[in-house]
Amino acid sequence: EPRNSVVRGAFVVVEGLDRAGKTTQVQRLCSKLYALGHNIKTLRFPDRNSTIGQMISSYLQNETDMDDHVIHLLFSANRWEKAKWIEETLSKGYTIICDRYFYSGMVYSAAKQNPSLSLSWTKHPEIGLPLPDVVVFLDLEPWQAEQRGGYGEEKYEKREMQLRVRELFLQLLKADDGRMKIVNAGDGMDAVEERIWKEVLPCVEAVEGGSFGVKIG
Ligand code: TYD
Repeated sequence: EPRNSVVRGAFVVVEGLDRAGKTTQVQRLCSKLYALGHNIKTLRFPDRNSTIGQMISSYLQNETDMDDHVIHLLFSANRWEKAKWIEETLSKGYTIICDRYFYSGMVYSAAKQNPSLSLSWTKHPEIGLPLPDVVVFLDLEPWQAEQRGGYGEEKYEKREMQLRVRELFLQLLKADDGRMKIVNAGDGMDAVEERIWKEVLPCVEAVEGGSFGVKIG
């Protein structure tokens, strides 16, 4: 049960390129917060469990083809399926650590360079989703990503695509209101873990302690 003193949980999003070590870092972050007594729930997008999630998964595995706009809207719908749960869970006092969110949604779709699918177009279906309190962007130089071994089999795991995705993430960062934190994910897991911790812990403490809307850092 959540601690009584918690006003609401914090909504923490971890974003990054493929091979940035996101999944490992999300696990480490959760264990550390949990060890300090925070009540934690995790979430990951795409959530491949729902019916929409299964359609997305089949698309990513090149089993089905879809119009770029259609798959974009499915990724977004996959988040909307969870929106109410996110709000309820935060208000019960759980801090949520979320592996990818609409930032990925925007940049991966816009990186396809479809002329009728600009970065600003991609934002519209995401408007109104619960906003994270902090977004950690795990950044990796393209050459570092490639040193970590070949890309996988899925649709977007190709060099050109990853380069554009990174450029678009950096573009979002420039336009951001301060909630996005860039973290260099190019060296050892422990160093990266420490950098993430420095960004996330103060935010979690502030939100749980009742400082709504306060920008950290
Ligand atoms: P994910 O399941 O996180 O795969 P991985 O563990 O390999 O990073 O995401 C699968 C792919 O889906 C990834 O290339 C990013 C992409 N994606 C989108 O295109 N739109 C979205 O809204 C999301 C959440 C992910």
